[in-house]
Amino acid sequence: MNSQVTVANVAEIRKQFPVLNQQVNGRNLVYFDNAATTQKPLRVINALIEYYTGYNANIHRGIHTLAERATRAYEETRQAAKDFINANFAEEIIFVRGVTEAINLVASSYGRTFLQLGDEVIISGLEHHSNIVPWQLVCEERRAYLKIIPVLENGELDLDAYQKLLTRQTKIVAVNHASNSLGTINPIKEIIDLAHQAGAVVLIDGAQAGAHLPIDVQQLDCDFYCLSSHKMYGPTGTGILYGKREVLEKMPPYQGGGEMIKEVTFAKTTYNDLPHKFEAGTPNIADTIAFKSAIDFINEIGKENIAAHESTLLAYATEKAGALPGVRIIGQAPHKVSVLSFIIDDIHPFDIGQMLDARGIAVRTGHHCTQPLMDQFGVEGTVRASFAVYNTKDEIDHMMEGLTRIINFMK
Ligand code: ALA
Repeated sequence: MNSQVTVANVAEIRKQFPVLNQQVNGRNLVYFDNAATTQKPLRVINALIEYYTGYNANIHRGIHTLAERATRAYEETRQAAKDFINANFAEEIIFVRGVTEAINLVASSYGRTFLQLGDEVIISGLEHHSNIVPWQLVCEERRAYLKIIPVLENGELDLDAYQKLLTRQTKIVAVNHASNSLGTINPIKEIIDLAHQAGAVVLIDGAQAGAHLPIDVQQLDCDFYCLSSHKMYGPTGTGILYGKREVLEKMPPYQGGGEMIKEVTFAKTTYNDLPHKFEAGTPNIADTIAFKSAIDFINEIGKENIAAHESTLLAYATEKAGALPGVRIIGQAPHKVSVLSFIIDDIHPFDIGQMLDARGIAVRTGHHCTQPLMDQFGVEGTVRASFAVYNTKDEIDHMMEGLTRIINFMK
């Protein structure tokens, strides 16, 4: 495909997503909860069916034909993921359940090994709980300090403050590429370079970037980068942790079990080479195989085309929502992924979410697993509409019509 996403081919793209073609509460479904999880194209669904009906087998263990076929397909996803983020080596791609597990793996394996009493970990005020709590756990255990990059009023990170936070004690910096709550795209190259100058390693949570932003881990020079398949048109329960080979090599295993060993005796166990050292037990074979179909889907349309289409939708929705009485948009950074977070005077976000749902419109409401950020903006939560490649301006109009009625009704 690799042509610009236009209204005409959005219709073609939508045909690949059977779930979109349904009525919810008597209206055509408008799915604006893409930052939580995207819908899946038929090719992803078919990849799952093909695996289970054609070659279901465990991987890396059998020499029979089905096992070899499953192993090949699984490793093809590793290769596709490597190319997708321009990693140097396939063994730098570790399959995990998703970004949450990737961060826990690094916090547990790297953090517990290399953090000493009095060391510092820096995260940002824009983080999802999954990039806060694992660091709190390891900092508590290692008696290290957790420091937070402040967030400015428009939803951007305060980089001057970040520079002041960096010290010789800083061992790890962990930030997201884009915020799930506000959509802010962070200047991660600058954040990484500054952290490296201070001698720290850097983890990037790419959950909200995978389907939207270019990712080149060699150019970024990050030490870790994490992705969840299900936010990239792929299945739930799989994703990747990228780690620089030399960093992964000095980390101990995260979990023990089959596959991650070279040799086990009761006296001593030696560990397998990368990436298997970090892939204990039977992994999520089917979903990981189908993840490749999602990567192919994104590549065929072209991430830059997806991003351009979504930016148009975001600009349109921001303008329309901003013109509604009582609407306050939370997060107005100049560079955003397609996330529109807002509140409306005196109307609880849950009520807005329910009333939109009654019109077939799916948005997320609440704190979006970013309670500290909500506290900073003095709100309990927001309404969040997040757009994907299959969304249209008509759908945004439909939401605006719904919001207008809600505002008039609640007056
Ligand atoms: N992290 C996902 C979201 O932002 C679940 O909705």
